[in-house]
Amino acid sequence: MKIAVFASGNGSNFEAIAKACQSGTVDAEVVLCVTDRPGAYVEERAARFGIPMLSFRPKDYASKREFETMLVEELRRRDVQLICLAGYMRIIGDVLLEAYEGRIINIHPSLLPAFQGADAVGQAMDYGVKVYGVTIHFVDATLDGGKIISQTAIPYEGSDREALEAMIHAAEHVLYPATISKLIKQFHNTI
Ligand code: GRF
Repeated sequence: MKIAVFASGNGSNFEAIAKACQSGTVDAEVVLCVTDRPGAYVEERAARFGIPMLSFRPKDYASKREFETMLVEELRRRDVQLICLAGYMRIIGDVLLEAYEGRIINIHPSLLPAFQGADAVGQAMDYGVKVYGVTIHFVDATLDGGKIISQTAIPYEGSDREALEAMIHAAEHVLYPATISKLIKQFHNTI
């Protein structure tokens, strides 16, 4: 299974996925890392893992349709079968959704459907929740609304945002590779 990971920033989830694939824990290969923010730290991580990077500036294209067409060409050229969004700060448009229907997944730092959209952790803290979490879901045309694949609950009653984010990240780094593994088995069974 050939995977592409899309990230806009830090890329710690990209690294967790790349590590799991390179060590053989996940039976897949990350063949491409895509970023819409040239200079993002994820580029350094990709270089460390020897994974090809595709960095593009959305502003260099006339429309989302245009840059997604370029992305689909690049993904198909590399035989990518699964797209994992990991902190990719853009809504996926029709071109990618149609080309990769049922093959795009995303990680979100809340127990969806609660706290969709930006700053999910801040939203949940403001709400005073006592159980935080992480969700991996299929991507469709809605914002964080596609069908849920897996979740982890993180009980926390404190108010230290940094500590909470560290717990969330640690949970993400376990859940994302494990979910990819599970999905790959399902894909194999349906072929
Ligand atoms: C993660 O918390 C993920 O849930 C959210 O964006 C963050 C990305 O973190 N979608 P990183 O770039 O993988 O470190």
